[in-house]
Amino acid sequence: MNLINDPLQLASHGPVIPVIVIERVQEALPLAEALLAGGVSVLEVTLRTEAALPAIAQLAKTLPEAIVGAGTLRCAADAQRAKDAGARFAVSPGYTPALGAACRALQLPLLPGVATSSEVMTALDDGFSFLKLFPAAAVGGHALLKSWASPFAGVHFCPTGGITPANAPQYLQLSNVRCVGGSWLLPGDAVRAGDWARVTQLARAAQALRPA
Ligand code: 3PG
Repeated sequence: MNLINDPLQLASHGPVIPVIVIERVQEALPLAEALLAGGVSVLEVTLRTEAALPAIAQLAKTLPEAIVGAGTLRCAADAQRAKDAGARFAVSPGYTPALGAACRALQLPLLPGVATSSEVMTALDDGFSFLKLFPAAAVGGHALLKSWASPFAGVHFCPTGGITPANAPQYLQLSNVRCVGGSWLLPGDAVRAGDWARVTQLARAAQALRPA
């Protein structure tokens, strides 16, 4: 899979990209294995905890069948850290040309976050046409994406933030949505309890989601 030339290929592995927060490095492997067992192979590990970078490094080394990326990139230094840890793609909550340039220089495929029409245009100027709408529900969600379909023909989105198994099918039904992102596959109580069977069950259900 050549993510560098086509980050959109991330969406070809399933309808949901899980947004993962790893609190303890030792949780990373069982958590990722549980998602893989449910058929979810694209894993966004957010750079929000101390454990994130060591977890990405461990997963990248030990689970070649997973496509492990880094989320919550906010600056060029984050891009370097993600690349050094072995991330194969990156996701950001917003977009800056500096972040876009850093990811390009590192050959790290980026799914940049946008929330406004102007941000879509800035990302497009820099060659990014597969974008994360974030935080999707808070900034207009389904109605906003529907409104963008015509002026931004050819731009594809991965709405994230406020997506649930109940509303995901409506999002997936939109012509400009390729996949959605969400944290619901990893409920905190299940992760803390090591209830990996529940995570696998949620992953399997997420993988089976289809457009409404
Ligand atoms: C995030 O960055 O935390 C994601 O947008 C996840 O949002 P969610 O918890 O609403 O799925």
